[in-house]
Amino acid sequence: MSENIIIFDTTLRDGEQSPGASMNLEEKIQVAQQLERMNVDVIEAGFAIASEGDFEAVRAVARKMKKASVASLCRANRKDIDRAWEALKEAKKPRIHTFLATSDIHVKLKLQKTHDQVRQAAVDAVRHAVGYIDDVEFSAEDAARSNVSYLCEVIEAVIEAGAKTVNIPDTVGYAIPDEFGALIATIRERVPNIDRAVLSVHCHNDLGLAVANSLAAIQAGARQVECTINGIGERAGNASLEEIVMGIRTRHDHLKVHTGIKTEEIYRASRLVSGITGILVQQNKAIVGANAFAHEAGIHQDGMLKDPTTYEIMTPESVGIKESSLVLGKHSGRHAFRKRLEDLGIELTDDEIQTAFVAFKNLADRKKTVYDEDIEALIAEEILRLPDRYKLVSVTFTSGTGVVPSATVEMEVEGKTLTRAEFGDGPVDAVFKAIKKICKSRAKLLRFTVSAITGGADALGGVTVRIKENGYTIIGQGASPDIIVASARAFINALNKLEYRKRNVMEEERPTL
Ligand code: KIV
Ligand code: ZN
Repeated sequence: MSENIIIFDTTLRDGEQSPGASMNLEEKIQVAQQLERMNVDVIEAGFAIASEGDFEAVRAVARKMKKASVASLCRANRKDIDRAWEALKEAKKPRIHTFLATSDIHVKLKLQKTHDQVRQAAVDAVRHAVGYIDDVEFSAEDAARSNVSYLCEVIEAVIEAGAKTVNIPDTVGYAIPDEFGALIATIRERVPNIDRAVLSVHCHNDLGLAVANSLAAIQAGARQVECTINGIGERAGNASLEEIVMGIRTRHDHLKVHTGIKTEEIYRASRLVSGITGILVQQNKAIVGANAFAHEAGIHQDGMLKDPTTYEIMTPESVGIKESSLVLGKHSGRHAFRKRLEDLGIELTDDEIQTAFVAFKNLADRKKTVYDEDIEALIAEEILRLPDRYKLVSVTFTSGTGVVPSATVEMEVEGKTLTRAEFGDGPVDAVFKAIKKICKSRAKLLRFTVSAITGGADALGGVTVRIKENGYTIIGQGASPDIIVASARAFINALNKLEYRKRNVMEEERPTL
């Protein structure tokens, strides 16, 4: 029997640190539930001391998870650890994850401490955390650029202090696979008590090597990998969960390890995270990209028809990709709708189902066929929204050849109805100007993307906007059969998220990594 690799997902913590990606409480719970459905072993739900919002998210996820361990990140000091424990204490399986940098660059320039002081602080932090719970993980931040002898000393000391998992991050994505594998092998050789802890890795993707480094580490004896859905995360992101898991499954013959992940849930997790964060998955992304299983060349198509194994090393079904199925139409009833939500793994309260059903009926009146993707977009639009400050009431516009584009937007802002008409370079520009005037916003539009959620001329249009105000970058999304309405919704969604962000992050308190 091959050995198990523990899958530690940090989409809700490191993933949420991606520029522009921010999730509200409801959205984090949805993602956590999907991770648990997928059988992820450990879910890092946030950085409890970072903000009220992070704290509440860790606490809510901790309360909800039935099988998965739930971790909160904390710096190596008592205040952070106490806060993490406060958020985690109701979890069935809580894990305190404390970290401190060990590279010379970080020790001298960032922490401005001596190496002895850092080693002692790491030990003190782990001892303090072990006072709350056995399951304590220590991460040696920037381990890949640390002096190996010093790193081994710190690892030995934190294991002695009670750490059950020791994580070796390549924080800046600097390592090369054979070098990183050799580092893991050296740690296993040189740290005398290493068999008392699980050796973990956490790789960033600055050189595009995060997954390769993680697999090299597994070959050298690491038994936990930290990763995110779609590889989202700081800068170029983290190692992608789906690539690691499918690499392990597809090349079991070579790697001779396994994971407990239900791979058929991967695609749904990828879509959920992309839908919520607004970070689109590149078309040719391995495993979950739109082209990952598309065969264009004639020779390939011919081979596929004769036998799929000619050009396919794994099946789309194994990651949960099925033909987009025609599900419901305007004659479908409440029962069929509820059943479809269940099949899609969408858990809603009775009131939410009622709201979603009304929205579905409206959509089905305008669109002949409603696909799974439409239902997912509709749920994101109608149910997973933040407690909104700004609401769109109506939008009308004129545009075309020979007219100056203009738009009139009516919105509800904290109970008051406000209307504004504007001209613009195009209808979208006019709509955005009117929304900004109503919301008294100075937000700058950085990016605007439109995509068809399903095929056909009557497809739902999905709009993603990226805006910036006061140093915050936020992504907003909207969907509608009318792309101007979808644009208005996306812009208002971004402004609402911005409000939420401003309320929930006390910037001066937000720790930096
Ligand atoms: O990249 C990193 O070093 C981290 C640690 C805090 C685990 O995210
Ligand atoms: Zn990281």
